[in-house]
Amino acid sequence: MKTLLVTGGCGFIGSNFVRWQLQSYPDVEIVNVDKLTYAGNLENLTDIEDDPRYRFEKGDICDRSFIDRVLTSASIDAVVNFAAESHVDRSILDSGPFIQTNIVGTQVLLDASRKAEIGRYLQVSTDEVYGTLGDNGYFTEDTPLAPNSPYSASKTAADLLVRAYFHTYGFPAITTRCSNNYGPWQFPEKLIPLFISNALADQALPVYGKGNNVRDWIHVLDHCRGIDAALRSGKPGEVYNFGGNSELTNIDLTLKLLDALGKPRTLIRHVEDRAGHDFRYAIDTTKSEHELGWKPEMDFETGLHSTIDWYLANSAWVDRIRSGLYLDYYENQYGTRLA
Ligand code: NAD
Ligand code: TYD
Repeated sequence: MKTLLVTGGCGFIGSNFVRWQLQSYPDVEIVNVDKLTYAGNLENLTDIEDDPRYRFEKGDICDRSFIDRVLTSASIDAVVNFAAESHVDRSILDSGPFIQTNIVGTQVLLDASRKAEIGRYLQVSTDEVYGTLGDNGYFTEDTPLAPNSPYSASKTAADLLVRAYFHTYGFPAITTRCSNNYGPWQFPEKLIPLFISNALADQALPVYGKGNNVRDWIHVLDHCRGIDAALRSGKPGEVYNFGGNSELTNIDLTLKLLDALGKPRTLIRHVEDRAGHDFRYAIDTTKSEHELGWKPEMDFETGLHSTIDWYLANSAWVDRIRSGLYLDYYENQYGTRLA
C-alpha cells in the first residue's frame, strides 16, 4: 500500500490521517484531493506541505474528469474517502450540499476508481447511519440502518452505494463507521471545539435541550489507526465499527470542559433542542478488535486535556476561522452574533 489517494485531507480527520500516515510509514505517498469548502483548511497541513511524499490537488470529488485525471496521474494503490459535508446542524439548515458531495461524490469516486482498477477503496462513514439508541444497547455492524438527519441519511446512501458496488461489480470496497471524534484541528462548529473556543472567549455555551443526549467520544488518532488497520487488513465488502468506549451526556462533557478551563458554569445556556436529535450513540467494537486487532488506546481524560492544550496553543488558528462567514453561520444557527 504505497500510494494513497485521500479525499477531504484538509478537514479535521483527513488532515490528522495524512500527517499520521507520513509519520508512521516512511515509504507511503499521499495525493490529497480537497475542494477547500468552509471546513477545508490548507493551514491544517502546513507542517507537512513540503514533504516530497505529499501532493495536494484542489478539486471536487463530484467532478468526474478531475478525479479521472488525478487517479491516472500516479499509480494509486488505494482510495480513502473522507470528503464530505459533515455537520448535522448545517444539514438541517440546507441538505443540498450533503446530497451532492456525500452521495454523488461517492458515486463518482466509486465509478472512477473502478474504471482505474484501484485495488482498495475505503469509505469513511459514521455510526449515525444506525440512527439512535435508548438507554441501553450498542450498535454492531449488523444493526439495521435507520438514519434520522439529512447528514446521516446522505452518509447511509453512500454506504449503500459502496455495498452495491461490492456486490454488483466485486469492487474491493470497505466501509468503516466511527463514533464522535475529538482532537486537534477540529472545526469549531462541533461540540468540543465550539465549547472550548466559546468558553475561552467568555461566550455562552449553547447546550441543546437539557443536555441529556449521550455521545461516545473517540480520539481522532484512534480513528486514524482503525482506518489504517481496515485498509491494510480488512476484508473487501465488510463493515468495521470504531468507538472510544467513552460515553458521556452533553451536559457532563460541558461541565468537564468548563472545569478544565477554569471557567464558570454560568456560561451554560440551554437552548432549543436540535430537530430530530438522536438520543444516544454507543458502539460495540468486538468485530474490529477480533478481525483487525484494533482497539481504542487514548483514555478520554488524557485526550480531552491534550485537545484543550492544543486549542490554547493554537488560538490564532481558531481566531482566523471564527470570522467572516463563520459569524454569519453562527448567527443563523444560534440567533446571536459572536462578539
Ligand atoms: P470536515 O468537515 O472537518 O472535513 C471535510 C473535508 O472534506 C474538508 O476538508 C472539505 O473541504 C472536504 N470536502 C467537502 N466537500 C468536498 C468535495 N465535494 N470534494 C472534495 N473535498 C470536499 O469533516 P471530518 O470531521 O474530518 O469528517 C471526515 C469524514 O469522517 C466524513 O466523511 C465524516 O462523515 C466522517 N466521520 C466524521 C466523524 C466526526 O466525528 N467528525 C465521525 C465519523 C465519521
Ligand atoms: P456534534 O459535535 O454536532 O456531533 P453529532 O451531532 O454528529 O453527534 O454534537 C455533539 C452533541 O452535542 C450532539 O448531541 C448535539 C450537541 N450539541 C449541543 O448541545 N450544542 C451545540 O452547539 C452543538 C454543535 C452540539
